[in-house]
Amino acid sequence: MSALLALTLLAAASSASAQSASVKRGLCYVATQDSEKDDNIWTGSNSDLTWYYNYQASPTSGLAAQLEFVPMLWGAPSSNTDMTFYNTVESQIKSGSKINYVLGFNEPDGCSNGGSCVDAQTAAQTWIREIEPLKTKYKVSLGAPAVTGAPAGFTWLQNFFTACDGGCTPDFIPIHWFGNFEGLASHVGQVNATYENMTMWVTEYGYPEMSLSATEDFFNQSTSFFDRIDYITNYSYFGAFRSSVSNIGPNAAMLSKKGKLTKIGAWYLGQKDGAKNGAAQLGSFSGWAVVVVGALFWLL
Ligand SMILES: *[C@@H]1O[C@H](CO)[C@@H](O)[C@H](O)[C@H]1NC(C)=O
Ligand SMILES: *[C@@H]1O[C@H](CO)[C@@H](O)[C@H](O)[C@H]1NC(C)=O
Ligand SMILES: *[C@@H]1O[C@H](CO)[C@@H](O)[C@H](O)[C@H]1NC(C)=O
Ligand SMILES: *[C@@H]1O[C@H](CO)[C@@H](O)[C@H](O)[C@H]1NC(C)=O
Repeated sequence: MSALLALTLLAAASSASAQSASVKRGLCYVATQDSEKDDNIWTGSNSDLTWYYNYQASPTSGLAAQLEFVPMLWGAPSSNTDMTFYNTVESQIKSGSKINYVLGFNEPDGCSNGGSCVDAQTAAQTWIREIEPLKTKYKVSLGAPAVTGAPAGFTWLQNFFTACDGGCTPDFIPIHWFGNFEGLASHVGQVNATYENMTMWVTEYGYPEMSLSATEDFFNQSTSFFDRIDYITNYSYFGAFRSSVSNIGPNAAMLSKKGKLTKIGAWYLGQKDGAKNGAAQLGSFSGWAVVVVGALFWLL
């Protein structure tokens, strides 16, 4: 092999891996009292992120210009003729916004901690009415309902597909995981075994309430795992909030209580390092933080 060819191959390999490390990464945007102040952290040339979702049908104004928005139908509307989600997404498409993907229900098998608590039958009817037509009419790629990482999630999803009776054709499976890396890898394997031909997005993940070093190890192991596996096409770490309102413990947060990137936050954006986490000062407030973020989720 000539030296020139070797150099060219090396350059191609390193640019390919540099790209694959970031192109999958998005932002799981959780609205909190400080999130508007923090919006510019996620955009701009210091950030590798390419897309975001905010659990809603409409974009977040502070992010919209920079990151590709992925609308979500969080739960089922109470009326079975409601077309709000469909209409909201359609009007974005018609006004020229790039909507290539939408996400189905958020943790429909969960009835607390942000779960939307939708039964499979209602979810199927809602999907067929408001989500499936975005694919037939506008070629939008559809993310299946994002169930929890609990075993009940598999059952719920199976019931959903049964209730759909062929009328729901998601293009990828979003998954959630809160726990250690071994559990995450095994969950990914189980989802792949169950839905073997579908790509996966990891739309919420983290290792709650752990020491800083265990959290950082988990973060690095999981991101390199996701970057390595072809059938995981997109992932978003949970989530865009400060350590002071984190409901999965202060060490997991990407922002300090003052809104500076933690190391994990900085690494996630492709930067070298971040602020100190400030976990020690927070210990006694974590119970309260769960309530606050829980309440915010409930509103979404
Ligand atoms: C995912 O599942 C398919 C089908 O069983 C299999 O070929 C593939 O190796 C699996 N991928 C991994 C990384 O386990
Ligand atoms: C996945 O695709 C292969 C090849 O097309 C097919 O044989 C298999 O039945 C599919 N699996 C599922 C679960 O749809
Ligand atoms: C995690 O990865 C970053 C680079 O992304 C590196 O700087 C850091 O040392 C790693 N930390 C651990 C605990 O492995
Ligand atoms: C998901 O990742 C793929 C690359 O794997 C990228 O092309 C696509 O833009 C990402 N999705 C979004 C919504 O940005």
